[in-house]
Amino acid sequence: MAKAIEVAKVIYQAPNLDVMEKTMVDFGLKTVHRTADRLYMRGADTQHHIHETRLGDTPRFIGAAVEMSSLEDLEELARLENSHIEKSDEPGGGYRFSMFMPDGFEISAIWGREKQQPLVTADPNLFNAAEKKERFNSSIRGRAAIAPVMRLGHFVLHVTNHDESVKWLKERFAFIDADYFAPPGQTEPIVGTFLRCDLGEQYVDHHCMLILQAKEPGVHHTSYELQDLDAVMRSHDYLLQQGWNLDCGVGRHLLGSQIFDYWKDPFGFRIEHYTDGDLVNNQHTPTVFNGTAQDTTQWGMEPPSDFFL
Ligand SMILES: [Fe+2]
Repeated sequence: MAKAIEVAKVIYQAPNLDVMEKTMVDFGLKTVHRTADRLYMRGADTQHHIHETRLGDTPRFIGAAVEMSSLEDLEELARLENSHIEKSDEPGGGYRFSMFMPDGFEISAIWGREKQQPLVTADPNLFNAAEKKERFNSSIRGRAAIAPVMRLGHFVLHVTNHDESVKWLKERFAFIDADYFAPPGQTEPIVGTFLRCDLGEQYVDHHCMLILQAKEPGVHHTSYELQDLDAVMRSHDYLLQQGWNLDCGVGRHLLGSQIFDYWKDPFGFRIEHYTDGDLVNNQHTPTVFNGTAQDTTQWGMEPPSDFFL
């Protein structure tokens, strides 16, 4: 079965590329390429770009690109879809073809995109826990500043038919379940599934997508990994100083364990910065979480009431 190895980028539509670019620069991305109606931005990792904006009247989440493990896997998936791969005319090139999820999200499968040179970033700070010291004869320094996004972590979709969307994604990308949401106090129905890449013994993020049952389809948020806790906090202070709209943070999630920081951009999209997320491999067993929405935060700022809508 064709296998995905990573979520390579997210694609948004927005009515003003200048505003999107200024926003995402403050959130730690860098511009790779821009045309009259497209904006492509990267993180510090080797992905050519991880964020694309298409100029359009209504702000909306268009979809994502998923990187396949090989050209053969990309071709196999295209055959399954009665489609064919094409050379991409996007910056970074490579091969691709597009599909549409049940609620209309555009999901491309890609392979062979040009890699970037990683950007030089500060090393993670060493941490002196009570019983495990890492830092000797050296100090922590740093104030409020833009924190480079190290990589795209995951995105969360609201869908109108959870089971159908999860099946659609698993059949095409060999994603497997990491954990589930059921309504409080119940074991079923499953109303949310964390999906991850299946790389066997190799550790991967707890989730690259979360699919949530909802009345209206749309994106809940896209999440970017920062270097460490200091990066999250320094960026938090910087974003406050710049007048950006804090949504919920800082805190620590239950499922996936990330230290999170959520913001709302000028178009109403939610952006998450995170660090210290769980990694899992084939020894991980999915569990069903059926506590309340509030229970999904271990500590930190309580989410606003519209966070779970
Ligand atoms: Fe998240």
